[in-house]
Formats: sequence, structure tokens, C-alpha cells
Amino acid sequence: MNRNEWLDTLPKGSVGAEIGVAAANYSLEMLRRVKPKLLYLVDRYAFIENKKARNKKELLMHMAMANVARYTFDGVVRPMCAWSLDVAKWMPDETLDWVYIDADHKTKSVYDDVTAWYPKVKVGGIVAGHDYKKGLGPYPGVNDAVKAIQPGTKINVVDPDNRAPSFWFRREA
Ligand SMILES: C[S@@+](CC[C@H](N)C(=O)[O-])C[C@H]1O[C@@H](n2cnc3c(N)ncnc32)[C@H](O)[C@@H]1O
Repeated sequence: MNRNEWLDTLPKGSVGAEIGVAAANYSLEMLRRVKPKLLYLVDRYAFIENKKARNKKELLMHMAMANVARYTFDGVVRPMCAWSLDVAKWMPDETLDWVYIDADHKTKSVYDDVTAWYPKVKVGGIVAGHDYKKGLGPYPGVNDAVKAIQPGTKINVVDPDNRAPSFWFRREA
């Protein structure tokens, strides 16, 4: 099962969030396969010092907004051009049925994202992301965060032979 097919295992009509969206290509896959009631799309896009990189981010943002425009109009997508940790602070706990974390891949950032987004997921919901390295296991940031918040939890791997597999685990009470 690849990460697109894995989306079919998420509950239809659920409330989800993608953290780190880029051009919203995976978001579109989420919309088509999960048919969520509500999908938060969080990406900071701008705020990059380097002008060339900033222009590229702006282009990505325009592509994303155009890709999901129809769903935004329908009220299914809530796009947020903001920092992951800020949005997590604003969102009430246990809002989401699932979250897919794919923003900054530095160990500390991944740790902070998993830790910040975990409580936003309902008990029994799914915490997932794209921070798994083939042959190396989950990024230390994922492992460390899971060890700290839910010790002993098995982290599941989606498409382990892929260059960049995804991970997921269920939030416990
Ligand atoms: C790998 S891309 C996302 C790819 C997308 N999930 C997909 O599967 O197509 C990572 C994105 O995360 C965003 N990002 C990085 N750090 C962030 C942060 N702290 N808060 C919000 N977005 C962030 C970047 O702007 C970038 O567009």
C-alpha cells in the first residue's frame, strides 16, 4: 500500500489537517480519497529571507490555493498561511480525527510538531506524517516525541520500501 492508498483507510467525512502542504498535491489526494468534512491546510509559505526562495514559496502558495479553490469555496478546506506551532496553539485539543505532519524535517521541528499536534487529535484518532527514512526508521524527532508522550507505542510504516515512507500511530487516552 502506498501513501495515497493509505488515505483510503482514514474515516470518510472526518476532520483532518495537513501540516506542510507545498502545492497541495497530496491535499488533493486527501480530498478525493477521504472526502473529509473539514481539512485544515497549514503552511507558512513565505517568511524566507532569500528572495529567490521566497518567490518559489509564493508560487507554491498560489498553486496550492488554485488546486484547492473549489473545496475552499465549498467550505471543506480551511487554508492557513501560518506557522505550524502557532496554528496548533490556536486550535482546541481533540479537534481532529487525524493529522498528517510534513513540514520542517529537522529533528527538533519534527519533535515539536508531533508534540504540538498530538493533543489536537481525538483519542483513538491518527497521528501520521512523512518523516520516516528507509533503513533508518522514523526520524529521531518522531521517535523521541512518541516516546515522551505515549511510551511503548508501535509506530506503523506505510510503504516501507519507498524512498520516504510515511508513519502513523493511534492516539491513546
Ligand atoms: C515537504 S513540503 C510538504 C509536502 C506535502 N505535504 C506533500 O506531500 O506534497 C514541506 C512544506 O512545509 C512547509 N513548512 C516548513 N516548516 C513549516 C512550519 N514551521 N510551519 C508551517 N509550514 C512549514 C514548507 O513551506 C513546505 O511547503
